[in-house]
Amino acid sequence: MKTRITEMFGIEHPIIQGGMHYVGFAEMAAAVSNAGGLGIITGLTQGTPEKLANEIARCKDMTDKPFGVNLTFLPSLNAPDYPGLVRVIIEGGVKIVETAGNNPAQVLPHFKDAGVKVIHKCTSVRHSLKAQSIGCDAVSVDGFECGGHPGEDDIPNMILLPRAADELDIPFVASGGMADARSLVAALAMGADGMNMGTRFIATKEAPVHENVKQAIVDASELDTRLVMRPLRNTERVLTNDAVERLLEKEKELGDDLKFEDIAEEVAGVYPRIMSEGDMDAGAWSCGMVAGLINDIPTCKELIDGIMQEAEALIRQRLAGFVDGKAA
Ligand SMILES: Cc1cc2nc3c(=O)[nH]c(=O)nc-3n(C[C@H](O)[C@H](O)[C@H](O)COP(=O)(O)O)c2cc1C
Repeated sequence: MKTRITEMFGIEHPIIQGGMHYVGFAEMAAAVSNAGGLGIITGLTQGTPEKLANEIARCKDMTDKPFGVNLTFLPSLNAPDYPGLVRVIIEGGVKIVETAGNNPAQVLPHFKDAGVKVIHKCTSVRHSLKAQSIGCDAVSVDGFECGGHPGEDDIPNMILLPRAADELDIPFVASGGMADARSLVAALAMGADGMNMGTRFIATKEAPVHENVKQAIVDASELDTRLVMRPLRNTERVLTNDAVERLLEKEKELGDDLKFEDIAEEVAGVYPRIMSEGDMDAGAWSCGMVAGLINDIPTCKELIDGIMQEAEALIRQRLAGFVDGKAA
């Protein structure tokens, strides 16, 4: 399938694996890229420029296909060494960067000069337009359904995607709630040029996370996510567990007085314990409502090949059947 996204990034299929903390290691990115999608290493999981340079080199050993690096700009007291991370991305020959979390204007000129394409992930039409106006090459439009940070506007993709299509000139991919061929075809119908998946890629054979994490996603239904940290205007969609329910109790009790320190135990530094050690009650971890559509743990190739085959059948048979006057 050819779209503006496959052409821009030099990939076979219009499917991107979004950056994911403690999931987006070289193994994950390489598996997605080798399957014809766009795999993405999560820059901040590596922490230091040296470690990120090493992860990029490892990924290059595992794939000769294009892959990207995610740079997330977080509200943080101890800001990561962003200039150093930008430098090793460029020196490592990475040609695609996914930015997220905040306006990437500061890093954009460095990437532009180095011929790196930037796809900015955002949760609203106004932020997408801002990204376009500052020179981002594409955007990833993340609806309210998404795992991770959906922003504060709460607009689901059935509205957000056509709105983005009406306003944007640059290509965009649909993100949040995407799991299968139906998601891809619907996203394309609403004007997107492809789709970005997070949660779905965690439940794959190659995802370098503990089996408990994959099983938790398979076991979860669409009713099992919660929104945390809304009082701090840093809303995150996570899978519910004991720690999350405790956190929500604290939010209810403290109301407007809630401070980050009050919930640090449930959110700060919990990812390694969950993703690497499989301690599923260690804290809050991002997960999309799309967990309700995930019932298996395929390889990335099985997943992507299946999506592309079914998408083609959906378009050629079911959809074409309607306009040809055949009941599909
Ligand atoms: C476990 C997990 C960790 C994530 N970490 C990040 C991150 O560090 N940076 C980022 O930009 N997005 C992050 N995301 C968001 C994903 O890149 C993607 O936008 C989102 O998962 C899409 O929604 P979906 O889960 O419904 O597919 C994370 C998502 C998950 C599920």
